[in-house]
Amino acid sequence: MAQIIAEVSRTFNEYLLLPNRTRTDCSPATVDLRTPLVRHPVGEAPAITLQSPFTSAIMQAVSTPELAIALARNGGLSFLHHNQPVQDQASAVRQVKNFKAGFVTSDTNVRPDDTFRLLAETMRRTGHSTAAVTDDGTATGRLLGLVTSRDFHPQRHDLDGPVSARMVPVAGLPHAGADVTLSEANARLWDERLDCLPVLDAEGRLQYLVFRSDYADNKRFPHQLVDPAKRLRVGAGVNTHDYRERVPALVEAGADVLCFDSSDGYSDWQAQALRWVKEHYPSVPVGGGNVVDGEAFAFLAEAGADFVKVGVGGGSICITRDQKGIGRGQASAVLDVAAARDAWCERTGEYVPVCSDGGLVHDYHVALALAMGADFVMMGRYFARFDQAAGAKLPTRDGFVKEYWGEGSNRARNWQRYGQGGQGLLFEEGVDGYVPYAGDLDEGLALTVAKLRTTMVSCGSTTLPEFQATARLTLVSDQSFQESHANVTVRDAPATVS
Ligand code: IMP
Repeated sequence: MAQIIAEVSRTFNEYLLLPNRTRTDCSPATVDLRTPLVRHPVGEAPAITLQSPFTSAIMQAVSTPELAIALARNGGLSFLHHNQPVQDQASAVRQVKNFKAGFVTSDTNVRPDDTFRLLAETMRRTGHSTAAVTDDGTATGRLLGLVTSRDFHPQRHDLDGPVSARMVPVAGLPHAGADVTLSEANARLWDERLDCLPVLDAEGRLQYLVFRSDYADNKRFPHQLVDPAKRLRVGAGVNTHDYRERVPALVEAGADVLCFDSSDGYSDWQAQALRWVKEHYPSVPVGGGNVVDGEAFAFLAEAGADFVKVGVGGGSICITRDQKGIGRGQASAVLDVAAARDAWCERTGEYVPVCSDGGLVHDYHVALALAMGADFVMMGRYFARFDQAAGAKLPTRDGFVKEYWGEGSNRARNWQRYGQGGQGLLFEEGVDGYVPYAGDLDEGLALTVAKLRTTMVSCGSTTLPEFQATARLTLVSDQSFQESHANVTVRDAPATVS
């Protein structure tokens, strides 16, 4: 007969945090959100520390290079998805690693004999008002000059004339060499009263443009997650089928950390694959998962996982529990795995971080997951709502939505994640749907971070380890859950004065 686990499977909605005493040194500004990403001996610094405990899901609909750049600039980390050919994923990794804050690859480019009409059309399409004139009209051609929207006017100039007639030729144009740093470029922008500084290689080919406005923008991200060479960090998902080809290509492309992505990571295949990576690439951190209990955590930690991801069946697009009857309430899973992590640490002297993956619906669920012992969270639905995610933005009667689909849906058909035997999906384990559009990642994440900081302040903590160690949680009854919500008729639009 099957073993029945006495403890009920619980989820985040069933818990609330109790406020602890808040000391005077504890304020949102003094809260430190740094958290370990990878295994490390107790008392030593991990090879990678997240500046903020957020990672984005290993999903087609979520982790694009654009999202990875935006999230790393905000101190978190994306794992680029592996449901694509090896070379495409490797080039996505390169795109993030090659990103140079403030150094922009020109997207508005023309040839000298192109007409002003084409230039105006190109500017309208990109929304930018500075164009590079290059010999071949590409972003990396030999730079011949710059032309801006201030250099021509449809009524004053012949729209069929060539842009070379009004461009500022490169000979009279301040420009910099490839080794210029951002602060040097910025100094020149100010000292020489420039709006834009082109960066050229030794042959005079355009590499980047540096704009004054982008430098100011760069100052907005004081907690970027960067490697020792100051390049943004990025992770990559891998699977237990083609890891022998995929891992070398991703490491070569510069991935900072890998993660085996499986809907059920408690398997000999995953242990073998983890051991293979540790043997061939001992210095590359690699996570494992997903699991829902302490036994499976210890199994993956033993096999070499540098962090372990928790969550089966709780994802917003997930129908695994409906289809297979497998999973566990996310709160119970995190509490159980975090306890196993602490026991493992006590026994071995090594700390193996835990990630709570999926099922985080409200911002406060992030605080609950961290209080329950997760070192960081992974989210799909949350990030899918932002501009930088892959899904199309579509208008509906009630406003804009973004497409969001599961890796086990017919749209993604990520059979490498769902071991159903053979190459292909026998049945769906995820749905294809929409989430409300939430604009730019920077603004949305800033709001979530602000809530997390103030929750930690109420709980009297200035660091995440302190929060984990001292948080007090209470279970909520159905009745007290009702009490949590507003109990008046809520005005849904601000009153207008006519
Ligand atoms: P969310 O943050 O609740 O949207 O959950 C995202 C997580 O759900 C991912 O990180 C995966 O662990 C998991 N997931 C992704 N696609 C599927 C699917 O099709 N079925 C079940 N789980 C999925």
